[in-house]
Amino acid sequence: MSILIKNGRIVTAAEDYVADIYIAGEQIAAIGKDLSINAEQVIDASGKLVFPGGIDPHVHLDMPFMGTFSSDNYSTGTLAALHGGTTSVIDFILQTQGKSLRNALETWRGRSDGNAYGDYSFHMAVTDFNENTKKEIKEMIEEGITSFKTFMAYKGALMIDDGQMVDLMQEVKKQGGMVTVHATNGDMIDKLIAKHKSEGKLSPLYHYLSQPEVTEAEASGRFADMANYTGVPAYIVHMTCEGALNAVRRSTIRNQRVFVETCIQYLLIDASLYENDFEGAKWVMSPPLRQPKDQDALWAGINQGLVQVVATDHCPFKWEQKLMGKDDFSKIPNGHPAIEHRVELLFSEGVNKGKISLNKFVELTSTNASKLFGMYPKKGCIAIGSDADLVIFDPNKRHVISAQTHHMNVDYSGYEGWELTGKSETVLLRGQIAIDKGESKIEKGYGQFIKRNKVNGII
Ligand code: URP
Ligand code: ZN
Ligand code: ZN
Repeated sequence: MSILIKNGRIVTAAEDYVADIYIAGEQIAAIGKDLSINAEQVIDASGKLVFPGGIDPHVHLDMPFMGTFSSDNYSTGTLAALHGGTTSVIDFILQTQGKSLRNALETWRGRSDGNAYGDYSFHMAVTDFNENTKKEIKEMIEEGITSFKTFMAYKGALMIDDGQMVDLMQEVKKQGGMVTVHATNGDMIDKLIAKHKSEGKLSPLYHYLSQPEVTEAEASGRFADMANYTGVPAYIVHMTCEGALNAVRRSTIRNQRVFVETCIQYLLIDASLYENDFEGAKWVMSPPLRQPKDQDALWAGINQGLVQVVATDHCPFKWEQKLMGKDDFSKIPNGHPAIEHRVELLFSEGVNKGKISLNKFVELTSTNASKLFGMYPKKGCIAIGSDADLVIFDPNKRHVISAQTHHMNVDYSGYEGWELTGKSETVLLRGQIAIDKGESKIEKGYGQFIKRNKVNGII
């Protein structure tokens, strides 16, 4: 199959120009002005933006968590992602404590293989680091799983202690990988949860009040210190607040580089949503939404180069699942749906409102994740030889987010009624039109596992 995209405004992390793109098979074969090449299909992209397919490096599909499973699986989740302009995702495999990484990988492959519409890769969450796990790090990296997720919270299920963290960092550094972290102080949070419950404070607001800013700032600083000590490339996921960002800022004083991901929700919505009684359960996630001053700090951090990635932490639960915590906030499954709308929200609220440039938008939605996680230049750029993962985007199209029309397998939206300007019109994945004007054009199973390269913490 060959496709010629004519006259689009091509936007990458570094460039912005009008030209044609010729796609042969799965890759971009030529880029130029007025290309005179015959193609089986010609798409007129005049007046449209053409940018690299989004990469969301933080999603949870079909994940067992808090007594239930996240409600989007590889099929519904990657298809919803494509509708919104995200062509690749990185999901989290969770090691079961007492079992091997291999065991967890096989379980996740059972969920992903043959089911995805979009391309995907895995981070390996190490929840039990011991001599056996240590031997598996090299194997995982050889198989293209080059990032290792850790949790400093969720004690008894996912959390590792600082001794395990340092040992893991040393091994990952040796083998050429990256350590990523959910950086919040699990012991402090557990204590606050118990205190609030003993006082009969059980509404979603107390989820927020059990995870104050200091719990994230402290853990982020501690993680940065351990990463500095071991020298491992380090990445903090879903950062929400000024205190945590300042911990990273402080680490730059000693010339350390710690990479930071925030998520679209932490830039756009705040903790006042927890005041609406149980309705607030829609936004019960960890870490919780914060204050407007934290949003300001994150937007500034993006433009200061301290925050490299905007992801989603997409971890949807249907309303009936959220009701598991009706009488106890600590039983509300943590997570919220966003995989479909990250790119359009960031464009509408970030680019259109003058908070970030178009080039920065591309960095945040695809290029930096690709570079950090060993996928560049296959993914995250528009260049000859790169995968033809492209979004043809109408910057003027207005649309309204609603659970009635979204494609995620969840019966509410955290952004119901938001009016956005800018919509993904045609989305290509490896040279195939995946979505065209709201219609899916590919089959389940088209999505492939992305074998990632070693990473060195340089982007
Ligand atoms: O609330 C969240 N974030 N749920 C998913 C698990 C995690 O901590 O990322
Ligand atoms: Zn987390
Ligand atoms: Zn997560």
